[in-house]
Amino acid sequence: RPPVTIPQLRKLYKNKTPISMITAHDYISGMLADRAGVDMVLVGDSLAMVSMGHESTSEIDLNDMVYHTRAVSRGVKSSFLIADLPFGSYETSPEQAFDSAVKMIKKGNAQAVKIEGGKELYPTIKKLTDFGIPVVGHIGLTPQRQNALGGFRVQGKTAKSAVELLENALAIQEAGCFIMIIEAVPDKVGSLITEKLSVPTIGIGAGPGTSGQVLVQLDMLGGFDAFVPKFLKRYSNYLETNVNAIKTYSDEVKSHQFPSTEHTYSITDDEFAKFQD
Ligand code: KIV
Ligand code: NA
Repeated sequence: RPPVTIPQLRKLYKNKTPISMITAHDYISGMLADRAGVDMVLVGDSLAMVSMGHESTSEIDLNDMVYHTRAVSRGVKSSFLIADLPFGSYETSPEQAFDSAVKMIKKGNAQAVKIEGGKELYPTIKKLTDFGIPVVGHIGLTPQRQNALGGFRVQGKTAKSAVELLENALAIQEAGCFIMIIEAVPDKVGSLITEKLSVPTIGIGAGPGTSGQVLVQLDMLGGFDAFVPKFLKRYSNYLETNVNAIKTYSDEVKSHQFPSTEHTYSITDDEFAKFQD
């Protein structure tokens, strides 16, 4: 599969072919996503929770994200690779965001960075895109601001908040985002914002009317059960399947079923006799 490029993503959008995106957090999850042929792989800071066991995404810093992104990049040969700039690594100034993005690209091997927020990010997104760093926006439920939002809650449920969402979407598009994530909004709001924009939208809990979809890989594989949002569809039973496999192994060790001759090396009788002497 040839590498996915931004012009190809534009073409999918123009042809109304939905764009598929999934998160990854290490080499193997990157490889799974790439082999499955998804268009885009996102190293999301959700990995702080689903893969590192933190309580929130705010607990991961830029160096951690760069480390994970570099690992993912070794497994991703063709999908377009994006990485989140984590909480605290881009808000101070466009210069801070630029330095963080450069690190993510040079050391993490990401092709684009994602930042959460709306019109307040206008100068930041403009600075990055002016210097050739592709930026993915993220509006609606922005988990880095969960303390201010009062938790993981649906956004844009009132006309006033939906208008604000649209204004933010238009502002970050104007600033130069080539694509944007819309998280946890009513389906009609996700569709209308998508219609008003000229860049693709990728929904997570934003209904079927966005230009594409994204899910957190460990969530959709059934590998994380601390919190199950309404928008999540589970495609596998990662926890159950793998706990059972490890339990069978442990039982077989205790009952001397493992290892059998099939999984054992041998030595010739002749050599062994000499060894005994
Ligand atoms: O961190 C993440 O996984 C994300 C996606 C849910 C969009 O930001
Ligand atoms: Na994120």
